[in-house]
Amino acid sequence: MKHDAAARAAKLRSQIAHHNRLYYELDRPEISDADYDALMGELRELERAQPQLITPDSPTQRVGGAPSGKFPKVRHRVPMLSLANGFSTEDVAAFIDRVRRFLKLDAAEPIELTAEPKIDGLSLSLRYERGVLVRGATRGDGTEGEDVTANVRRVEDIPARMHGHGAPQVCEIRGEVYMTRSAFLKLNEEQSSAGRTVFANPRNSAAGSLRQLDPEVTASRPLRFLAYAWGEMSELPAATQWDMLRWLQARGFPGNPLSRLCCSLDELLAFHREIELERATLDYDIDGVVYKVNRLDWQRRLGFVGRDPRWALAHKFPAQKATTLLNAIELQVGRTGALTPVAKLAPVNVGGVVVSNATLHNEDYIRELDVRIGDTVTVQRAGDVIPQVLGVVPERRPPHSHPFQFPKTCPCPLSTPVVRDLTATGKEGAISRCSGELACPYQRVEHLRHFVSRRAFDIEGLGEERINLFFERGWIAEPADIFTLPRRDDTIQLSRHEGFGELSVRNLFAAIEARRTVPLERFIYSLGIRHVGETTARSLARGYGAFHAFREACRRLAQGEAEARQELDAMDQIGDAVIESLTAYFSEPHNAGMVDRLAREVRILEAERPATKSPISGKTIVFTGRLERMTRDEAKAMAERLGASVSGSVSKKTSMVVAGAEAGSKLKKAEELGVRVLDEGAFLDLVNDRG
Ligand code: IVH
Repeated sequence: MKHDAAARAAKLRSQIAHHNRLYYELDRPEISDADYDALMGELRELERAQPQLITPDSPTQRVGGAPSGKFPKVRHRVPMLSLANGFSTEDVAAFIDRVRRFLKLDAAEPIELTAEPKIDGLSLSLRYERGVLVRGATRGDGTEGEDVTANVRRVEDIPARMHGHGAPQVCEIRGEVYMTRSAFLKLNEEQSSAGRTVFANPRNSAAGSLRQLDPEVTASRPLRFLAYAWGEMSELPAATQWDMLRWLQARGFPGNPLSRLCCSLDELLAFHREIELERATLDYDIDGVVYKVNRLDWQRRLGFVGRDPRWALAHKFPAQKATTLLNAIELQVGRTGALTPVAKLAPVNVGGVVVSNATLHNEDYIRELDVRIGDTVTVQRAGDVIPQVLGVVPERRPPHSHPFQFPKTCPCPLSTPVVRDLTATGKEGAISRCSGELACPYQRVEHLRHFVSRRAFDIEGLGEERINLFFERGWIAEPADIFTLPRRDDTIQLSRHEGFGELSVRNLFAAIEARRTVPLERFIYSLGIRHVGETTARSLARGYGAFHAFREACRRLAQGEAEARQELDAMDQIGDAVIESLTAYFSEPHNAGMVDRLAREVRILEAERPATKSPISGKTIVFTGRLERMTRDEAKAMAERLGASVSGSVSKKTSMVVAGAEAGSKLKKAEELGVRVLDEGAFLDLVNDRG
């Protein structure tokens, strides 16, 4: 009897896990909410009668009762970054030059760099406290990832305890989870014969295997791990990247034995060639080689541009190519109305991925290549970028084909005229746009999709498909409508519609509520203003501090107030293109109204002040003249790291001017306006940081 109960409980757990997966991951539930509740009820009853049956991973043990099905979020104490890409010898040479210039090294000084194969898996951060693994998290958006600790514990390459004695108090070890090609092929065979999901490539397979709700499943998958970086460290056990890689290995983390320490551009390029030749024989996928400045003190000085470290470069391998038939050319309407011609292809395998769409970029590109429907074309795919059509195979052109006529009207139901952008000099630009703006339903939908995307409002359960559906039904026409949706549900009655159980509606509304509070920078980014990407949105948020200040500035901008323009101009990272586009956006009453309606629905947090308190935090600094002890870029990076903003022009808002040798008009202006002037030495003394 007892045995039967245990078997029944195990069966229920696996059934529930199965339905969780269908519901949460695949979005196609097979049973009704009531039937699901019945399974849970039965399991709870069994566990109540015989508590020894409760397992830690039982769906009944999840906080809040309801199976979350999702992994909790974790904020990375040190963000997980990405890498800038290079494709050519020139790109690598330019990278090294940039490092040299930034650090003010003279041409004779050697720069050591590590060269590491760039493995194609998913990055992971492992937190060890006193040498013991306490948390594993995926990269997520770099700032916030998912807590996959239970699964990470089941990956054999990942030690539960660091090897050796005297590990630092806190170590965050970073690296890549991946699957070997052979293991991937074997797994796919097993999956297919068991009638389960088959994965497209080793990377997807590794990702899918790590993000399992049931750690047992993860344990059964052949996952591997390679360490190559670190996050928070209570102490740094080495002074170079190379010694850190060796230290990681000594502590029990597998490293890539192919990595090498190089001393010159030639050595880097030779390594790249060698690895490219070896690539086909490796049992794991790589998509390039990563170069990193070896000295960690130099890495620190070099710092970051956006999300990319200045001290590293991913030197990618050339893209993979194939030829196939072009069946049609469709126009895709982007968020800002830009029309992108997309080639509809006979499906073709390009380096292990089936491609049936590829971009043709724009009208001129099609004309230059003379791409015609019915042509055989070459397509290429490079890493994660969208596949593109490279050219035509002329011998295969069918007789009687015609040059492609780029449409003169938008494919949207309004058929608004297509216009070409003008460049700053008044010439015709490359981009064709639907002139319908937000009257064009395609643009509105794209705008909404951007609004809910991961880096914007990130509303769980409101992906592209649902946005399309809600838009078509007229339930959501603009962002503010998302937040009034729960209030309007009396009339809409979402749970009565196909594909929406009561539980999923509850979850959706909870996800909407969860995003009602939003940091200013995300709010600004989500508006989808041209030229306002994440970095610019952050600068604007920091520059204005609070929403009302930003909104007021945009109102003044739209009214043509010169001072509002100047204010913006003085802000870090804000140039003419951004100013023009903010002006255009807020001059359009529809846009302004949309922003205000949205702002009434949400709570917008003030911008985060830079973490460090320093003598220059919050100050606006202008550097001018020739600096001796640091480069201009380095000075700017340092000032920003210490919470100041750096401007290119002196105004009465400038807090101080740091004047190097031969300073000219800016120094004069500072003196006229009575702005504080420091020389380089005094500035370094003030911030007490000699770099
Ligand atoms: S270093 C701050 N080293 O490539 C530097 N990344 O394109 C952070 N990757 O997210 C990354 N091999 O998933 C680094 N030897 C290596 C790598 C590597 C693969 C991946 C990693 C990262 C992505 C960036």
